[in-house]
Amino acid sequence: MSEEQTAPAGPDLAQGVALNEFGSETLLGHVGDQDVLLVRSGPEIFAIDAHCSHYHGPLAEGLVVGDSIRCPWHHACFDLRSGEATRAPALSALAVWQVEREGDRILVRQKREQPKPRGKGPVDAPGNVVIVGGGAAGFAAAEMLRRQEFRGSIVMLSNDAAPPVDRPNLSKDYLAGSAPEDWLPLRPDSFYAEARIDLQLESNVGSIDIKAREVIIAGGGTIPYDRLLLATGAEPVRLPIPGADQPHVHVLRSLADCRAIIESANGARRAIVIGASFIGLEAAAALRARDIEVHVVAPEQRPMERVLGPDMGDFVRALHQEHGVIFHLGDTVVAIDGKRATLKSGGVLEAEFVVVGVGVRPRIGLAEQAGLKIDRGVAVNGFLETSVAGIYAVGDIARWPDPHSQENIRVEHWVVAERQGQTAARNMLGQREVFDAVPFFWSQHYDVPINYVGHAERWDEIAIEGDIADRDCLLKYKLKGRVLAVASIYRDLASLQSELAMEQTSSR
Ligand SMILES: Cc1cc2nc3c(=O)[nH]c(=O)nc-3n(C[C@H](O)[C@H](O)[C@H](O)COP(=O)(O)OP(=O)(O)OC[C@H]3O[C@@H](n4cnc5c(N)ncnc54)[C@H](O)[C@@H]3O)c2cc1C
Ligand code: FES
Repeated sequence: MSEEQTAPAGPDLAQGVALNEFGSETLLGHVGDQDVLLVRSGPEIFAIDAHCSHYHGPLAEGLVVGDSIRCPWHHACFDLRSGEATRAPALSALAVWQVEREGDRILVRQKREQPKPRGKGPVDAPGNVVIVGGGAAGFAAAEMLRRQEFRGSIVMLSNDAAPPVDRPNLSKDYLAGSAPEDWLPLRPDSFYAEARIDLQLESNVGSIDIKAREVIIAGGGTIPYDRLLLATGAEPVRLPIPGADQPHVHVLRSLADCRAIIESANGARRAIVIGASFIGLEAAAALRARDIEVHVVAPEQRPMERVLGPDMGDFVRALHQEHGVIFHLGDTVVAIDGKRATLKSGGVLEAEFVVVGVGVRPRIGLAEQAGLKIDRGVAVNGFLETSVAGIYAVGDIARWPDPHSQENIRVEHWVVAERQGQTAARNMLGQREVFDAVPFFWSQHYDVPINYVGHAERWDEIAIEGDIADRDCLLKYKLKGRVLAVASIYRDLASLQSELAMEQTSSR
């Protein structure tokens, strides 16, 4: 996803640009070999690095909202004064530059000293925070606690062997073989010691003692907490069919899962993907990039129809077929015997390995054992606090009151997990921030990104703007005339505008 190095963009801002050249809201230029974006916000002009710190998205194509700018690709947000990444998925600040005026010219010559984030800081700081989970939500929470200048202890327990990684990449570039290893860690190993985050890997939390306020490690040992964050994510559903436990039948959640698939793919000719889910189909695309023949077996007639509707479902199927994927829809695998997979319809497929992508289940065992309120996930209030004071739950396990859909919802989105981790971090420090972000997810199939904002479990109309087949479209999922969600392909600005409109509608 990173852009190729090209010549510096636009005018040389060190030489200056005339104010009247700066007609619109933004102007892309460069200082030396760095791309810098001038942004007009009311009477002020800001200068900020032109590329998002997440995957290098072009901020010049983003949306300016007050004194912030939102990235067109995955809706990160940066403060134009401080450069701080105020909304995930970006976590690192951008450099902000000194804007000088000489007569009617604007000049940019040097970076400003990075101002401190404008966080409120600890209000009611606990002594020690324990985070269970080393994924999107757990990591974002730990990082935000330090950004907020929390000085107490942070213990982060993960039963994974790998430090927090960019999980969405595991079904995309990394699986396709086009992402280098160093794209994966959310932070280098040295970060944890420097930030005094006690990351304990391969540490499985077996239970929580609410009265004693401590977590109990399955292998022995207890860790006390003042505030506890549960961010245990979800686990892939395993198929209850004969042969599903063989080593060449994979699920895809962790880095270890992904590496095992890559090992199976090396030298393989054919793969079966069971399930036409987002992860199943992203994996299919990645395996096609490795020139492996891919058969997708799934019970539905149209992939992703339940989430994206019939037209987008047809498009996604056709897109994969164009790239050589062979579908066996309306069918299931009933048994796997070595390389032979038997289908319900009676057919047999032969493949060296199988990837099962049939959905996930939230890991709520710990919360259940501790007696926390469960509601098809861990029930939390608007501040992401569970039914027990001092214990918060975020990410794939959390069901929260979503002010936009006005329903209690649980989603499995990377950006939502990170933003919930960040809100919970601030709330654990005594702030009272309602989690009101509009849900967002993206999915990538070959060169086609699908962005989705909002949440629509049902709708009575899908209004299509543009043309799906042309890969230039925006679909509005409506119920009784109200837009609940918007999916888009290559209409990034409109997607950002829809997100803003949803925020404004709900805050009225
Ligand atoms: C391959 C793949 C691709 C994806 N692509 C996208 C995408 O493109 N866009 C999108 O929006 N979403 C995507 N998702 C979904 C997204 O990754 C999840 O929604 C997100 O990771 C959820 O974050 P989380 O912190 O809740 O859980 P996770 O990131 O799953 O982290 C949970 C952590 O908890 C640990 N843990 C669990 N139980 C225990 C225990 N008892 N003790 C200690 N540690 C424990 C786990 O080891 C793990 O470290 C993808 C998911 C996968 C698997
Ligand atoms: S590239 Fe900007 S949010 Fe992903």
